Amino acid sequence: MKSNTEKDGLTLFCGLLLCVSAICLRGANGEICGPSIDIGNDISEFRRLENCTIVEGYLQILLIGDKNYNINQEVFRSLSFPKLTMITDYLLLFRVSGLDSLSTLFPNLTVIRGRNLFYNYALVIFEMTSLKDIGLYSLQNITRGAIRIEKNPELCYLDSVDWSLIMDAELNNFIAGNKQSKECGDVCPGIMEDNPQCIKTSFNDNFNYRCWTSNHCQKGRNSLRFSINLSILVRCLNEWG
Ligand SMILES: *[C@@H]1O[C@H](CO)[C@@H](O)[C@H](O)[C@H]1NC(C)=O
Ligand SMILES: *[C@@H]1O[C@H](CO)[C@@H](O)[C@H](O)[C@H]1NC(C)=O
Ligand SMILES: *[C@@H]1O[C@H](CO)[C@@H](O)[C@H](O)[C@H]1NC(C)=O
Ligand SMILES: *[C@@H]1O[C@H](CO)[C@@H](O)[C@H](O)[C@H]1NC(C)=O
Repeated sequence: MKSNTEKDGLTLFCGLLLCVSAICLRGANGEICGPSIDIGNDISEFRRLENCTIVEGYLQILLIGDKNYNINQEVFRSLSFPKLTMITDYLLLFRVSGLDSLSTLFPNLTVIRGRNLFYNYALVIFEMTSLKDIGLYSLQNITRGAIRIEKNPELCYLDSVDWSLIMDAELNNFIAGNKQSKECGDVCPGIMEDNPQCIKTSFNDNFNYRCWTSNHCQKGRNSLRFSINLSILVRCLNEWG
């Protein structure tokens, strides 16, 4: 059994680590946003995310209109929130027209914690008419909850993601009504040049290369701890000079 002083020491150390991380986040102009963010109706509402490093609560993006399809598409090509690394509840996307990938929007989204879920789901992508790939290429951990990806008629790069690298609850995932995989022709980076760049894993009886888009490989299971450490370190170093 551990002695009390040892436990206290550990608690103190963890507390200090948290403080340092929080200070560093602030130093890097990070902000913890929330509780929860709803973005709907108008694309200009995305501005509410501009300083967020962490969304405390859920992030819902929904009902951004069909009428402005062309304008939306143009805006989405350049709209990006690279500061956002974590959502503590769930991410839900529903009927956002003109958005064809999340790769530019959330290039650094690494963790969805699923503390509170939408039904049983931590990630919901539903009736996204123009989405062609998910593209969350930094996503490495859905801590709790499953995913539901349904009725997205253009959505490919679903078979190329190994969800077991990201989550423990992948048996409860529901993925249906998207573009038929035989109509997709997904190609991971380097395949066309006979120089495959991505890791190869077995998932759903399918041993294959793992990627989110034709430009972005999926990361392996062990890279997360390192990348979090690295990002904290980089932020601290920047802060100190
Ligand atoms: C983000 O930060 C900038 C600079 O501090 C500030 O001017 C802006 O109002 C902030 N945006 C939001 C949505 O809080
Ligand atoms: C992701 O975040 C890191 C720092 O935390 C930053 O250097 C990098 O530019 C970000 N990535 C993108 C694609 O913006
Ligand atoms: C996700 O992170 C949690 C907490 O750090 C960990 O317990 C879990 O094993 C991770 N899951 C995967 C699939 O890496
Ligand atoms: C940093 O990495 C070390 C070794 O991999 C690990 O023990 C530690 O928990 C990590 N720290 C954070 C804050 O992730």
